[in-house]
Amino acid sequence: MKMSFPIASDDFVQAGEASSKIKRILKQIGIPSGIIRRVSIAVYESEMNIVIHASDGEITLSVSADGIDIISSDQGPGIADLELAMQEGYSTASEEVRRQGFGAGMGLPNIKKSCDQLNIESELGKGTTLTMHFNLTESEV
Ligand SMILES: Nc1ncnc2c1ncn2[C@@H]1O[C@H](COP(=O)(O)OP(=O)(O)OP(=O)(O)O)[C@@H](O)[C@H]1O
Ligand SMILES: [Mg+2]
Repeated sequence: MKMSFPIASDDFVQAGEASSKIKRILKQIGIPSGIIRRVSIAVYESEMNIVIHASDGEITLSVSADGIDIISSDQGPGIADLELAMQEGYSTASEEVRRQGFGAGMGLPNIKKSCDQLNIESELGKGTTLTMHFNLTESEV
């Protein structure tokens, strides 16, 4: 099963829609709630990062016997220093964005904690792609 959700930059009204929809779908197909919770956190943070920091993007959900794969990709501006961006508390969010409750610099660290495997590819001027994998192991059922 594979589904894609477009994410519009700066659209704080629609923000969170992809994670809500993905949550609903995973519930319908009987994915264990602990895994759904972790996927929802990762999708929500990825979605908000596109809305706040990037231009338009897309989140893709794939479910197979192998597990759950989420790909979040956007069209720029890319992340200059990935190591710095991964640090807890690092944020380039504007004052305006911080007033709305974002910009704690916890999104990427939380994504890393939520998933079982994370790969980030980012190129300045091109965009950022996060590839996240969640195991569907028996121990979590
Ligand atoms: N998709 C992206 N495109 C460009 N820059 C990004 C993207 N995602 C993250 N960043 C950069 O990495 C920094 C850290 O991201 P992170 O999600 O950890 O924190 P934040 O979004 O600033 O705050 P929070 O997620 O806690 O609201 C961001 O401030 C931004 O500079
Ligand atoms: Mg963030």
